[in-house]
Amino acid sequence: MALINPSILSADFARLAEEAKAVEGADWLHVDVMDNHFVPNLTLGAPVVEALSKATDTPLDLHLMIEDPDRWAPQYIEAGAGSVTFHAEAAAAPVRLAREIRAKGARASMALKPATPIEPYEDLLPELDMLLIMTVEPGFGGQAFLDIMLPKIRRTRELISKHGLEMWLQVDGGVSAATIERCAEAGADVFVAGSAVYGADDPAKAVRELRAQAES
Ligand code: DX5
Ligand code: ZN
Repeated sequence: MALINPSILSADFARLAEEAKAVEGADWLHVDVMDNHFVPNLTLGAPVVEALSKATDTPLDLHLMIEDPDRWAPQYIEAGAGSVTFHAEAAAAPVRLAREIRAKGARASMALKPATPIEPYEDLLPELDMLLIMTVEPGFGGQAFLDIMLPKIRRTRELISKHGLEMWLQVDGGVSAATIERCAEAGADVFVAGSAVYGADDPAKAVRELRAQAES
């Protein structure tokens, strides 16, 4: 199984509804929420997420690159998110937050920046439906894939197997036709792609091609 989640960050923000429809057939739509504090960039908040959820049937995969996700995550579920990812580096109480996200009916996910190791979080894995390994420093689309993250993807997949968990392992940053096979081989099964999808002439075709490559 390979899930392809196009990142709306690389879309035209003035035409979000059309851009969401342009990738129907994708598994989830990845929505990057940035607050100018956790990362040096600012994108969108809950009102735009709510509008997007009404504009597409594709479920929304929220990636919260924000300070204090403990406070702000619930409003994104009310806005229509099917999955909410918070950053390990920003959450004050990740277990409580993951439980709250699940209790409100969304999938709970936690992200790790490149310099954050997985090992301290091993015991938290059963609380999560997905773990996101960043393969760039978060904040911007179109950056080069960090090969040095492949061992962390591999180690995380081993921990998931060791605990017999069903959870997904997502990669985000620099995922393209040139890098997706290495990510899949290392054990990722959910692939975020921004510029590789929205930079293509036919975004829906780019999604199908990436999925075929990841499953090959
Ligand atoms: C970066 C975001 C990514 C971004 C990926 O901080 O979390 O989701 O949109 O863009 P690409 O695929 O172009 O690296
Ligand atoms: Zn993202």
